Amino acid sequence: MSRARSFTTNPLLFGSETDGNGAIVCDGLHPARVAVVSSTAVEIAQYFLEPHTVDEGIGAGFERDDLDRACESAVLVPIDAPGYAASRMWEDRGWSRAAFLQMSQVDVEAAELSEERPSPPPWRPTAVRHVALPSVDITEPISLDALVRRRSVRSFGHTPMGLQALSEILLRVGCPPSWLRVFLVVQDVDGLDHGVYRYEPVDHRLDLIRAGFDHSEALAAVNFQPWVAGSGACAFLVAQWDLCSSLHPGSRGYIDLLIQVGAFAQKMLESVYQVGAGAWGTPAVAESAARKLLSVERRGIDALYAIKFGPVPAAPRSH
Ligand SMILES: Cc1cc2nc3c(=O)[nH]c(=O)nc-3n(C[C@H](O)[C@H](O)[C@H](O)COP(=O)(O)O)c2cc1C
Repeated sequence: MSRARSFTTNPLLFGSETDGNGAIVCDGLHPARVAVVSSTAVEIAQYFLEPHTVDEGIGAGFERDDLDRACESAVLVPIDAPGYAASRMWEDRGWSRAAFLQMSQVDVEAAELSEERPSPPPWRPTAVRHVALPSVDITEPISLDALVRRRSVRSFGHTPMGLQALSEILLRVGCPPSWLRVFLVVQDVDGLDHGVYRYEPVDHRLDLIRAGFDHSEALAAVNFQPWVAGSGACAFLVAQWDLCSSLHPGSRGYIDLLIQVGAFAQKMLESVYQVGAGAWGTPAVAESAARKLLSVERRGIDALYAIKFGPVPAAPRSH
């Protein structure tokens, strides 16, 4: 370790405490490399969360040998090392999904929720105005047959989607988990202004978050898939990470989240097909572009899934 060089805790370090005397750690840059480290290495990792030089580490009470070993086991990395800046990008931009996914493969016990750490409140963006949705009498259950026969639709009609149909879709979908919100990018729906809304299931209403948007923004949010165009709307399923992880603590929380988002997306598809509309869905959301489109300024709120739905154009008549 050179004296002048600054070191910091490996930003892709994943650890599992063994028995209070150390930890098994894995370097996310080299996932196959797993090391058993001492409890001192865990303390070193905590101290070096802010970059320090070796001399500063020694000044803080660590032994040079322990610091050397922390470097060899990739607990510490030099801040000018190739790959460090790239690996930091996830954290710098508040995207920890790679970390969550990797961590979910390690069987770490869920931490008990204590009273000192209550769940964060559900996040609500400021609404420009509320729009009540018409009530719908739902008498028929979802037809499983229709679900089995349904196929992704990637071309939508040019007539507006009916507000009654949209209302029925949202009523059928119901209430998502508290950490998951449905945002609707309304392209062409009868009686609704073109804009971005958030669905409030308890009152069955839409909260207008943003009046108007540019089609190019919607396009960017789904990684430039042109079939986001057309009548209807594009729903974005938006997660609040801190609330979800406080309700689903432990390493499996991220997988639980993905399963719940998938299940909710399927419910939405079922409802869309039930009202005779069509849809396609994707987890390939460009997170930064989606945040911009949905006017999400707070960190820790990300769109994870998009479902474009709308009226299906009439099939051309065959002669
Ligand atoms: C993980 C996953 C990612 C997908 N991403 C896209 C996508 O980015 N764009 C798209 O148009 N469809 C996407 N789909 C939809 C599939 O292409 C489609 O469901 C599949 O081809 C089956 O066709 P069907 O929906 O007509 O039954 C995705 C599906 C899955 C399971």
